[in-house]
Amino acid sequence: MASPPFLPLLLLLLSLLLLSPPQSYSYESDKVNLTLYYETGCPYCRDFIIHPLAQAMGSDLVNIVNLRLVPWGNAYSIGSTIVCQHGEDECLLNRIHACIIAVARQPYMFDIIKCTEEQEEQQAANNMSSNPSAVWTYCVDKLQFPKSPIEHCSNSGMGEKLLLKYGYDTTHLKPPLRGVPWVTVNGIPLAQEYKKFVSYVCNAYKGKSLPSACRKSSHDTEKSSNEEHMCYRA
Ligand SMILES: *[C@@H]1O[C@H](CO)[C@@H](O)[C@H](O)[C@H]1NC(C)=O
Ligand SMILES: *[C@@H]1O[C@H](CO)[C@@H](O)[C@H](O)[C@H]1NC(C)=O
Repeated sequence: MASPPFLPLLLLLLSLLLLSPPQSYSYESDKVNLTLYYETGCPYCRDFIIHPLAQAMGSDLVNIVNLRLVPWGNAYSIGSTIVCQHGEDECLLNRIHACIIAVARQPYMFDIIKCTEEQEEQQAANNMSSNPSAVWTYCVDKLQFPKSPIEHCSNSGMGEKLLLKYGYDTTHLKPPLRGVPWVTVNGIPLAQEYKKFVSYVCNAYKGKSLPSACRKSSHDTEKSSNEEHMCYRA
């Protein structure tokens, strides 16, 4: 007997239920919304995720932010066909990121994303061509996260749907996104000041006890990024 055609979808839904926190319930309103609009093929996005963002997410700042990742960047769609700035491989990794975001709860979600960006950076530094499939499976194995929910999401068309939704969110930003990485704090874009996001988050926080990450002044010394530290649509 052939397995019913909806079995993969059923498995995906089950794994979503098991692995993903119910966003609407876990959402904490006194936290600061920190949103990163990015694309996986942009070296400045990679650098931002691997260094300042990872540092912040490894500190107690993590307790006061709702981190939202939006992997779309300068991509565009023609109907349901997605065209990415850095080609097909970038589209694939963006889709994998969308699936990781959908199925993995924190801290796995950010750790897996960070791992894939580190791997991509390493390959770029060695002049190796990007290999998104090898990269994400390596990272998921390394962090002992199950592969199948991500695979199902990516192959079932759900990944594509998630991406198109991210595309809608990105292209409807007000004010519009000018380049990536594009960081917003409570919806306000930091534009060229994106590397100073820790100060902005700390200033926006209305809660009682400020995390110690806010007391350190090191983040204040981050220079503003100049225009060249963003990827623009060609
Ligand atoms: C990568 O290529 C660049 C330019 O072609 C070269 O300067 C650099 O040394 C290469 N790096 C490695 C690790 O091969
Ligand atoms: C943070 O994001 C949530 C969900 O999108 C939204 O409902 C809330 O108003 C935002 N809070 C602020 C302060 O922007």
